[in-house]
Amino acid sequence: MGKLWGGRFTKQTNHLVDEYTASIGFDQALAEEDIQGSLAHVTMLGKCGIVPQEDVETIKAGLQTVLDKIRRGEIEFSVADEDIHMNVEKNLIAEIGPVGGKLHTGRSRNDQVATDMHLYLRKRVVELAGMLHELQKSLIGQARDNLDTIIPGYTHLQRAQPILFAHHLMAYVSMFQRDIERLMDSYKRINVLPLGAGALAGTTFPIDRHFVAEQLQFDRVYENSLDAVSDRDFIVEFLSHASIIMMHLSRLSEELVLWSSTEFNFIELDDAFCTGSSIMPQKKNPDVPELVRGKTGRVYGNLMGLLTVLKSLPLAYNKDMQEDKEGMFDTVATLEGALQLFAPMIATMKVNKSRMREAVNQDFSNATDIADFLVGKGLPFRQAHEVIGKTVLYCIQQGKYLLDLTMEEFQQFSPLFDDTIYEVLRPETVVNARNVYGGTATDQVAEAIKRGEVLLSMTEQWLAEHV
Ligand code: ARG
Repeated sequence: MGKLWGGRFTKQTNHLVDEYTASIGFDQALAEEDIQGSLAHVTMLGKCGIVPQEDVETIKAGLQTVLDKIRRGEIEFSVADEDIHMNVEKNLIAEIGPVGGKLHTGRSRNDQVATDMHLYLRKRVVELAGMLHELQKSLIGQARDNLDTIIPGYTHLQRAQPILFAHHLMAYVSMFQRDIERLMDSYKRINVLPLGAGALAGTTFPIDRHFVAEQLQFDRVYENSLDAVSDRDFIVEFLSHASIIMMHLSRLSEELVLWSSTEFNFIELDDAFCTGSSIMPQKKNPDVPELVRGKTGRVYGNLMGLLTVLKSLPLAYNKDMQEDKEGMFDTVATLEGALQLFAPMIATMKVNKSRMREAVNQDFSNATDIADFLVGKGLPFRQAHEVIGKTVLYCIQQGKYLLDLTMEEFQQFSPLFDDTIYEVLRPETVVNARNVYGGTATDQVAEAIKRGEVLLSMTEQWLAEHV
């Protein structure tokens, strides 16, 4: 059998053109979705009396056979048949004969491929939300175990104010929560059926688009046939959400790399998640977070790539749009690869509590609190800031920390100091003084963890409703 569209042609396609225009090398990943869509389409053709019911049954059985063969790896896809749609159709006709040619009635590859992409991404978005949810569970688990662990909090990567390590971890829970919510929201725009738009204008056959939508569990059908076949917003949106997820993962990665350095020594990643050096026997490298940090680039690239493909494209379908796939597949694989590792890597990381404590004892991150103490005694904040700046400078010159100063030394800087300052300056006091909603005080973080658990169960419910 020649090309499915060979009728109009007098010459064979140049084999380089076949290779250049084919997408089968990558869109075979859509085989399941393609057949799922075809099954719904042909069922509708039967219901609407467009194809006789017995032909419908033959085609459905044939599609099932083709699907089973694909799953068993028994089908050799052919570049001459260009893409997954024509490869499936060719194999169907080989399986059941010319009646297989009735499947494509009232349909175009343009609305077919769009449908496949919607089906594909709908599944992936749910999977990814589930994986982010697993990562949140790991983070919340570590937060629970570190409700009494104080670390220096940083701004400009300079020690700023002491915070609970749990509070730091819960910041990432909030970030990944926004990511989950973005995916959930995008689901509404993914779960729309393009099929029935035909090539661009609709079809002359009395099809029932809503029946197809129902079978495939789409919430809605596209309103406009041109939009249906040329919309790739849902993929751009996905790539943009994916970029934000990678950006978040890369920030966490950077912290894991820093924290596991000898200089910080705050955490140790489990051996199972690290690699060694071929020359330096002592090395244990945080390759996973490094690679996640690095792979962020390709996900951003995929977003920019598709935005650029779509820029200025006239309606409706253009072959350019075939370029929507590889970046999307690559992004899904990159995200899933990263998230699959991150959840257990965070769950198993060892937290070096005593080293964190040492770091907190050896810094000036309680300086804001001593300024606030003077404000409490009636000094305007700006003057208190100046007094403490001088006190800190004195400490640095003397090689001391604030808690090392004697009352006489304190008094040199302000007569407002009294013995209660030593309690004010303790890291626990400093942390617990930030007892404001969303702050680092132990009670607040314990509440934040409880709210995090509520979010976990809300996501679980959504996941159960969107399998
Ligand atoms: N392989 C094509 C793609 O991915 C399928 C749609 C082809 N449509 C067409 N009119 N050539 O975009």
